[in-house]
Amino acid sequence: MKNNQTLLPEDTQQQNFYQKKLAEGGAILAPMAGYTDAPFRKLCRDFGSSWAVTEMVSAKGMVQGDLQGIEIGEPYPDEPDLVIQVFGGEADIVAEGGRIIYDHYSPKAIDLNMGCPVKKVTGKSCGSKLMQDPERAADIITALNAAVPVPVSAKMRLGFDKMNVLEVARALEEAGAAVIAVHGRTAEQKYTGEANWEAIQAVAEEVSIPVIGSGDVQTKEQYENYRKLGLGVMIARGAMGKPWIFAELFGAEKPEAEQIARVAYKHAQLHLNWYSDGSEYGELRAMRHLRSQLLKYFEFRPDSRAILKDVSSLEQLAAYILQEFELDLSGEICTDLKRARPERKRKQKRNWKNRKSRKQQAENNLAIGS
Ligand SMILES: Cc1cc2nc3c(=O)[nH]c(=O)nc-3n(C[C@H](O)[C@H](O)[C@H](O)COP(=O)(O)O)c2cc1C
Repeated sequence: MKNNQTLLPEDTQQQNFYQKKLAEGGAILAPMAGYTDAPFRKLCRDFGSSWAVTEMVSAKGMVQGDLQGIEIGEPYPDEPDLVIQVFGGEADIVAEGGRIIYDHYSPKAIDLNMGCPVKKVTGKSCGSKLMQDPERAADIITALNAAVPVPVSAKMRLGFDKMNVLEVARALEEAGAAVIAVHGRTAEQKYTGEANWEAIQAVAEEVSIPVIGSGDVQTKEQYENYRKLGLGVMIARGAMGKPWIFAELFGAEKPEAEQIARVAYKHAQLHLNWYSDGSEYGELRAMRHLRSQLLKYFEFRPDSRAILKDVSSLEQLAAYILQEFELDLSGEICTDLKRARPERKRKQKRNWKNRKSRKQQAENNLAIGS
């Protein structure tokens, strides 16, 4: 058995980023599109997540100069241990996209998405579709490794429609992947059934690089059992509306209702600092984006849905918390994650407006025959 944890170099000088972090502790916030943004990563890191992976960034988008990827991969000020996940299907494009994102943010590692089951992604031979083509996946890892000076990892499923994770894991190890994370379901299963941790363990026995398991982890007991097997443990849905889960895994008590309200409020403040431009509309848009997560925080109060599904401002959230928990947070100030509205976004808008008015001008000229 190749117990991947015992095969780590003992000399810490020789350990790469992942090996060092896994030696310190192995509970990691898993990437989640639409969720693992800067505010949520910050909260989870503060509660003890070893590192946190960003939402996935399109490598092709980066190469084509699409600013959305730059926005998605952006770390919060002084973010430690940034790992950016990219998706793509062609080695040269993923390598170039990876290089661009590395040049922007110097992440500690870059992770390749091989697990996304969404048609928009698999239809372009990306995400979990790579599980059907281990050779192409390995070529991507090789090219990415050559393009960036940091460890490259991959997060995969057990297979696309049938299990072939051992074959893929071997190919990726040979291509130079530093770590493999495995979500214990095939892509076809999406999120149904139970994650198969025996299959994840079989991967750890097959390869010499560290393996991180993902799927259905909610408790300290599960975490400890999987760690005993030598696996790193990723948490995704278990952290939604519950970022303190990382502290619980290390022995903290479950928070009281009032503490939960405080964390939810802090999340809303970080979220507004990060996304809102300070205008009323900016606040509304940011709060809308956060609503589904706020509902998760307050799931233990069934009546909260009726109010929080329409919450539109921090003031309204504070009023809800005051009414429900007799806790006045309205005076709490949080300046973390305050960022100047990115210049590039404004410029892009301006350019777009200019383009529009130039187009309009041209059409007007044509209409009047000039
Ligand atoms: C809303 C959502 C978005 C996700 N986005 C990604 C993603 O962008 N990249 C990725 O590798 N996995 C993604 N995943 C998969 C998770 O990282 C994780 O492997 C999976 O949810 C199983 O873990 P859990 O039971 O702890 O949620 C996503 C999962 C969810 C629920």
